[in-house]
This record gives sequence, structure tokens and C-alpha cells, in this order.
Amino acid sequence: MSINASGTEGYAEAAQSLISQWQNISSDELHAAVLHLIPTRPSSVLDVGAGIGTDAAALAAMGHKVVAVEPVDEFRAAGVKLHPSSRIEWLDDSLPELAALRATTGHFDIVMLTAVWMHLDEEERRRAMPNVARLLSNGALLIMSLRHGRIPEGRRMFDVSPDETIQLANVQGLQPKLVVRSESVQRVNRRMNVTWTRLVFAKGCGAS
Ligand SMILES: C[S@@+](CC[C@H](N)C(=O)[O-])C[C@H]1O[C@@H](n2cnc3c(N)ncnc32)[C@H](O)[C@@H]1O
Repeated sequence: MSINASGTEGYAEAAQSLISQWQNISSDELHAAVLHLIPTRPSSVLDVGAGIGTDAAALAAMGHKVVAVEPVDEFRAAGVKLHPSSRIEWLDDSLPELAALRATTGHFDIVMLTAVWMHLDEEERRRAMPNVARLLSNGALLIMSLRHGRIPEGRRMFDVSPDETIQLANVQGLQPKLVVRSESVQRVNRRMNVTWTRLVFAKGCGAS
């Protein structure tokens, strides 16, 4: 695992049950509100906090090339096994710095931060946003989801406000294109009244 990958607390211990649980999640269902914004032309995608690669696999199947960043070894190994694809490259790296990624790669047309931003504390979120923004090409999309509700035992999580996220993004030249609040697609989370905010930002001149 990446050294000092804060936000991953509790995940390695719970990996086996989460890997089974997450295999029942459909990326299309999860991203129904934002799917119409994802380009159909083959694009370069960065999926940060990729888990077992649910989004990475769905995007690769659409013809996109995906770099899947995941700091927990167990999730990366499961992702490689579950979704063998020449269009997915896995990388052990973590927010807020994404140091390994930034040392090797250029820019992306889409960056996904699905259910990961809430693992960072306020100071980490402030440091992470410029690093994420730098990885976006002009006109590229940043697609995020923020979790609201009771925090699972043993997990490091914060209830992050959409307003704070929009402010941090704005400073980096990212304009909000879509903000949608929805219930969880997972029954176990719906029972705990977990809700999500999905946000899509566009960078620079392509923004409208
Ligand atoms: C709730 S899971 C979401 C996984 C995947 N994005 C999905 O939607 O299926 C949160 C993921 O964020 C990863 N994560 C936690 N802290 C992180 C950090 N500092 N940098 C990158 N990923 C992190 C965890 O290891 C985990 O895979």
C-alpha cells in the first residue's frame, strides 16, 4: 500500500467482504445522473480511488483508456483479476499528492473521484484539488461523488459539503456543470439513510 495513504483506514481489514459487496454495484446505475456527459469518442480517463475497478471496467468497455489509481493492495489485486483489460493500467498511488502519477503521466479527458473525496480531511482536500485539477486537459471533466450519512465503524470519513467542493474547484478554474443529490444504490446504505451528491466540473474554455 502507498505509504501514508490516509483515508484507507479499515479497508484492508474489510477487503474480502467489500470486494464481494462491490461486485454487485453497477457502474451504469451508480452514474445514471452523469452518463450523458461522458464523451463517446475514445478518451483518456483517470479513476482515483478505483476500488476493484467497477468504473474503470465500464469506461474501458466504452473504448476509453483508463489509469486506475488505488492505494489498497487487496482492491488493486482484485481489480486486475476481475477486469483483465489492456485498456486499464493500475497504479499504487494516493491523494492528496498523487506523486507517482504526476511524475509519470500527462493529462486526462475525464477524472473520476467516485466515493473517495470524503476520505480526505479539510487540509488534505485543499491540497488535493490543485493536484487533481492539474491532471485535467482543457475542457476535461471532473466527476465526483460525496457521501452523506452515518460513518461506518473503523473507517476514516468526513461529511464534505458540496459548497466547499465547488469553491475549491472554482479556484482551480473548474466550473460546475451538474450537482445532483440522490439516495444510495446500495440497500445496506439506504437502510442507514446514506445519500450522495454527484458533481461534475469542466475545466477551462470547454466549460459552459
Ligand atoms: C468507497 S470506495 C470507492 C471505490 C470505487 N471508486 C467505487 O466507487 O467502486 C473508496 C476508495 O477510495 C480509496 N481511497 C481511500 N483513501 C484514498 C486516498 N487517500 N487516495 C486514493 N484513494 C483512496 C479506498 O482505498 C477505496 O478503494
